[in-house]
Amino acid sequence: MNRVSQSSTPAIELRRVSKSFGAVQVCHDIELAVEQGEFVTLLGSSGCGKTTTLNMVAGLEDASSGEILMHGRRVNDLSPVDRDVAMVFQNYALYPHMTVAENIGFTLKMRKVPRDDIRRRVEAVAAALELGHVMERLPAQLSGGQQQRVAIGRALVREPKVFLFDEPFSNLDAALRVKMRAEVKQLHQRLGVTSLFVTHDQEEAMSISDRIAVMYRGRVEQFGTPEEIYARPATRYVATFIGSPQMELAAATVEAVDGEPAVRLGATTIPLAGRTGLRPGQAVEVGVRPEHIRLAATDTAGGVPATVTLVQPVGPATHVTLAWDGGGAVASVPGFVRREVGSAVRAVIDPDRVLVFDGETGRSL
Ligand SMILES: Nc1ncnc2c1ncn2[C@@H]1O[C@H](COP(=O)(O)OP(=O)(O)O)[C@@H](O)[C@H]1O
Ligand SMILES: [Mg+2]
Repeated sequence: MNRVSQSSTPAIELRRVSKSFGAVQVCHDIELAVEQGEFVTLLGSSGCGKTTTLNMVAGLEDASSGEILMHGRRVNDLSPVDRDVAMVFQNYALYPHMTVAENIGFTLKMRKVPRDDIRRRVEAVAAALELGHVMERLPAQLSGGQQQRVAIGRALVREPKVFLFDEPFSNLDAALRVKMRAEVKQLHQRLGVTSLFVTHDQEEAMSISDRIAVMYRGRVEQFGTPEEIYARPATRYVATFIGSPQMELAAATVEAVDGEPAVRLGATTIPLAGRTGLRPGQAVEVGVRPEHIRLAATDTAGGVPATVTLVQPVGPATHVTLAWDGGGAVASVPGFVRREVGSAVRAVIDPDRVLVFDGETGRSL
């Protein structure tokens, strides 16, 4: 974050960028500003328009309308080569008959960069990616993680102003994905190259990004830091897409208790004093993140009377599924929790942690 300069011209800026394929519009008025040195992720489920958006930044697709700027300059009409970006894809097909060193240096050779310069730059990149000891190997002699690092090296060696990544870890197994995440983040910390990264994996996005643009059906639902989108989701969609286990939302109607808004959860009324956006009778959806639900004894005042329906230990926490009158929730309780299925508990919820969304628009209230 410390490399990010908020005051200067954004490295990448999208102004009301839309894209249609024939009659089908897949990106709607995308607004996005990536600061110099920032690591921004486009996050959303498959088909929401992430790749299309990234390809428009790269120049591989034309925007149907709107403006794309890089370092303050309009680039809509610039070819990919002239945009000074380097891309890393999910399918990173290395040249099988070339060594690691040759693979990394290939684009420089094509550009007729002097041989000594190529060697120097390839060595520097290999050192940064800890590939120095495998430079003479062929891709088939590398692990999946090493192959992916060579693909990143191939992009890095061009010393681009901007890095674009499209689901680069999707073909790797789960353990390696987590490791590559850390490597790319460390690389970014060291080199500070502006990066736009695409993934459908919310945990990957949370762990790697300075800021995340959550996309849904071709629109940016929210653009903010991992903490902002987690703690203050702007919409119902963001609230349920971010976080594991998923947060449950329940329909409710705002009531008035002593002149203050409140909502009913099961047999209990939760006061929401001071929430100025709520008016009595309003249809809303309410939810609480699993880690903000505490389990307590059945005589605990204020808790929601609930029945345990499922207990799932995952190591650091146990996910306890609860049913109550008209709904339920999952509670994530630290450590191993011994609760009998069918037993009665109270779900204790801090009113400040209750997230409320407009029943119609889905916007945060
Ligand atoms: N060249 C194309 N022609 C027609 N439709 C396309 C084309 N490329 C993508 N789409 C459609 O646009 C939508 C967004 O696709 P994409 O940007 O690849 O999504 P994501 O990367 O988020 O999975 C999808 O419905 C996809 O089928
Ligand atoms: Mg895609």
